[in-house]
Amino acid sequence: MSKTILVAGGAGFIGVNFIKFMLRENPGVKIVNFDALTYAGNLASLADCENNPDYEFFHGDIRNDKDVASAIKKYNVDSIINFAAESHVDRSIDGPHVFLDTNILGTYTLLQAARDFGIQRFLQVSTDEVYGSLGKEGMFTESTSIKPNSPYSASKASADHLVRSWHKTYDLNAVITRCSNNYGAYQFPEKMIPLCINNARHNNKIPVYGDGMQVRDWLYVYDHCTAIWAVFDRAAPGEVFNIGGNNEKTNLTLVNSILAMLGKSKGLIQFVKDRPGHDRRYAIDSSKMKEKLGWEPSVTFEQGIEKTIKWYMDNQAWLDQVTSGDYQNYYKQMYHQR
Ligand code: NAD
Ligand code: TYD
Repeated sequence: MSKTILVAGGAGFIGVNFIKFMLRENPGVKIVNFDALTYAGNLASLADCENNPDYEFFHGDIRNDKDVASAIKKYNVDSIINFAAESHVDRSIDGPHVFLDTNILGTYTLLQAARDFGIQRFLQVSTDEVYGSLGKEGMFTESTSIKPNSPYSASKASADHLVRSWHKTYDLNAVITRCSNNYGAYQFPEKMIPLCINNARHNNKIPVYGDGMQVRDWLYVYDHCTAIWAVFDRAAPGEVFNIGGNNEKTNLTLVNSILAMLGKSKGLIQFVKDRPGHDRRYAIDSSKMKEKLGWEPSVTFEQGIEKTIKWYMDNQAWLDQVTSGDYQNYYKQMYHQR
């Protein structure tokens, strides 16, 4: 059966990569990119998709039930994948309200629309951050208890609980994916990897929080997209899947390797005040993805980071565009007193 998927948040980092992946590798599936175009949304990233007959854009807010209903009716949408969110932990510490509004009430609005319009499949894109922080040992599995530590992760965990309950109570055909930190092309340079590349190209300091020994499990965004599609297409209703890259790195190791690849000095590293509530370590056990859906990451971290750095160096005009204007104020506010 042909599908028409409303991709909420399709103009953000992962959404853009997912839409390009779908149009390229799954032609015939119609994609309706539904996005409010916040600071993180950027239609220029999708300029090459505009004339694709499988692609439509609808400017709307997931908190607004009229917007959501209009898009579903206009394009006869039968499925929803929800990427739309406020996604940056540091911003959630300074201003949590919009995180609760978008991530919780926005998800609620989509879930109600899914019931009203008989949506056949609902995929919620979540995060490993809902599990909280690990010590030196162990990995998050799908049955690890939910213990979020930041306003961002608490809002994502709340959304996961809503999705679960809409499945249990209203029999909505819903699934949840929880992935680790993504990296790749089109990521807004508030996040660590593009921030590091952007600062290094200008020979600006790279702010490393605390001792830099926090660990993240890096997932190449293309591999996240193939995993989301596998879950959307084949997972049983109500299932949760963890998606990780098997690439645990301390932040310091990560920054050192990016600087080395760019031919820049380690002297650019500047240790700054730590993030409050900073999760020490994330590590994802994705064995369920492999066993049930046959999914595995396609690239090593070394291959993924090389492609990523090359993309940013070849697309400096994109970086220049997204770091002009408001970004400069954000950067000053976030880092000057740090
Ligand atoms: P992003 O911040 O780059 O993009 C978010 C997108 O959502 C933007 O296009 C923005 O305009 C849109 N949006 C925000 N509020 C909206 C609203 N009210 N209505 C409609 N659209 C709205 O985020 P991302 O990095 O692409 O993350 C996508 C999803 O994946 C998020 O749900 C995030 O929690 C999750 N996630 C991200 C990562 C990561 O490493 N980036 C890791 C785990 C999970
Ligand atoms: P980030 O990309 O913000 O993702 P998350 O907080 O969701 O894991 O940060 C990745 C790691 O890098 C995290 O441990 C915080 C750290 N970090 C810095 O040390 N300096 C920075 O300027 C930023 C943005 C992040």
